[in-house]
Amino acid sequence: MKTKVLLIAGARPNYMKIAPIFWAFRRAARNALDMEIVHTGQHYDRSLSDDFFRDLELPEPTVNLGVGSGSHAEQTANVMVRFERVIDDKRPDVVVVVGDVNSTAACALVTAKSQYDGGARPLLVHVEAGLRSRDRTMPEEVNRIVTDALSDVCFTTCRDADANLLAEGVPAERIRFVGNPMIDSLRRCLTRAQGVNLLPELGLEPHGFGLCTLHRPVNVDRRESLGEILDTLGAIAADTPVLLPLHPRTRQRVEAFGLGDRLLTLPRPSSGRPARGLLAIEPLSYFEMLQAMQHARFVLTDSGGIQEETTALGIPCVTLRENTERPITIVEGTNVLAGTTRRGILDGLAEACRKASSSARVPELWDGRAGERIVAVLRTLECGARPSAPAYPTADLAVAAAGGER
Ligand code: UD1
Repeated sequence: MKTKVLLIAGARPNYMKIAPIFWAFRRAARNALDMEIVHTGQHYDRSLSDDFFRDLELPEPTVNLGVGSGSHAEQTANVMVRFERVIDDKRPDVVVVVGDVNSTAACALVTAKSQYDGGARPLLVHVEAGLRSRDRTMPEEVNRIVTDALSDVCFTTCRDADANLLAEGVPAERIRFVGNPMIDSLRRCLTRAQGVNLLPELGLEPHGFGLCTLHRPVNVDRRESLGEILDTLGAIAADTPVLLPLHPRTRQRVEAFGLGDRLLTLPRPSSGRPARGLLAIEPLSYFEMLQAMQHARFVLTDSGGIQEETTALGIPCVTLRENTERPITIVEGTNVLAGTTRRGILDGLAEACRKASSSARVPELWDGRAGERIVAVLRTLECGARPSAPAYPTADLAVAAAGGER
């Protein structure tokens, strides 16, 4: 019997993390796995979901829970109630969750508490485990802590994540450093991303513009902080145009706070090259984002994933936050933690440009093969949580996590 694996995706940053796992599963010749994608529907706009599935050549999810937006409790609870039914119906052996969004923690909780007749339950596997910002006011940090504490296998993207897990008492045999699956997606899609029309449509020259993304509640949910950030971006954009694809949350806040006059709304195609200004457009597709990142002179962001993607591309990155769960992008890569004051951002920009042209390097195992390594371990988890079988004994996990055969 094949090992039945459910791969969970909920929100935009999840798709490029599940894709390499699905590709590696599809490539395997004699497959011991049976893998399905479950979408929780946390993100539902076409531009935040369907377009990414298309670009990443992922099949339609077999289930879409359609949870949509809501408060944290509502969103998490809705995923839990609906995902519990999926577990009952599909009886998977393994549930793979990625990243740190509400859907990740919700599915982790359900998996860890589920129980088939006979006492077995599916194994819980967390991809991108062990990242810590040490800021528990961030919902993502709470999601990471909960998910890692419950996971049977923790796949990590960097060695400092291993150290974080060990310090929290996660047994070493549950931790497996496999590299960064998001960089698998980036490397595979970069060439095709050059074929999209974004820069010509907007009249932007390679290396003649900056790129900014902004969506963290701490930055966009208060008028004062959003206003200050937009003013600083405006000052930077007085020299070099800055492209700002607007996340729906940010667009809503800009409108609600009456800050629309800070932005230049750009039609596509635009009628001429904008020499300067903060250029707001709708969210970009994955390929468009890759093209924009690769050709940007610099990137300013409060996203987690973009800190890693810019490090892999060697593009200067200024992180508009007080902390990061991805310190490796600062220690080894092109990232600078700048906070959100005008002085901090301007100094950060100068420092990031200096780093990118001198000391930065791509971290260990960000080599495009993390998905393969993950699937290799999943294949060793063959036996086990059949409906009436006993739960995985720890010894089996130790062998699996070491990449060995049973
Ligand atoms: C979520 C993740 C965050 C991730 C981000 C990437 C959590 C806690 N947060 O934040 O880690 O970096 O996604 O995008 O899981 N909305 C739409 N259309 C959509 C989705 C959302 O219009 O398809 C609007 C809704 O009004 C919603 C708001 O955006 O209230 C925020 O969406 P939500 O999923 O709650 O959080 P994000 O800010 O997207």
